[in-house]
Amino acid sequence: MILNQVEFAMMNNPVRAWIQRNVEATRMLRMGGAIRGGQALEIGCGRGIGVEIILDKFAAGAVDAFDLDGRMVALASRRLKNREQVRLWVGDCTAIPVKDATYDAVFNFGIIHHVPDWRAALREVARVLKPGGRFYAEEVLDRFITHPMARQFLDHPQSDRFGARAFQRGMQEFGLELNGAETLGEVFAWFLAVKP
Ligand SMILES: C[S@@+](CC[C@H](N)C(=O)[O-])C[C@H]1O[C@@H](n2cnc3c(N)ncnc32)[C@H](O)[C@@H]1O
Repeated sequence: MILNQVEFAMMNNPVRAWIQRNVEATRMLRMGGAIRGGQALEIGCGRGIGVEIILDKFAAGAVDAFDLDGRMVALASRRLKNREQVRLWVGDCTAIPVKDATYDAVFNFGIIHHVPDWRAALREVARVLKPGGRFYAEEVLDRFITHPMARQFLDHPQSDRFGARAFQRGMQEFGLELNGAETLGEVFAWFLAVKP
């Protein structure tokens, strides 16, 4: 689901970039380590800050990234125009147009809660990871998504949402093994999972 105007503004500003670099990515790096020279995918890449993080902090050798929203991909293309090791496209994380076992790592900076069929997104993540590949995920949980205050300003799918345990079960259903999970106030969660 594409962001409404409020969330589009919340995602495209320097404060969001600072949080993504210094809070979310720092935690992910501590949980899963770098992927030196590896081939990475970012789902729902927004304006491209995550791709910079994956290259610069996680030391990926190349990054593929896509977003459902063409405006986001246009912003990311502009931001990343000098990064030759990046490939961008408009796409849907429930049908990723790459073959099985392509990536050493997949990154999800808070996008799967926007996907009505979130299990299909996890199935695709598991499919495109190589054996031994890592899934780094940061998510917003049902307690926030379905809260009346959040519903007033933001636009998220409301039925069949997930808490931390349901997300973990979803990953396990598609063969990913959980290596770490952390939550903040039962509202935000970070996961590190590995494809055996
Ligand atoms: C909350 S924003 C996060 C953007 C970016 N990852 C960040 O952390 O700033 C969620 C993003 O997911 C994208 N999105 C929503 N549904 C998607 C889908 N099915 N496939 C790919 N991207 C999707 C939205 O367009 C939006 O850019």
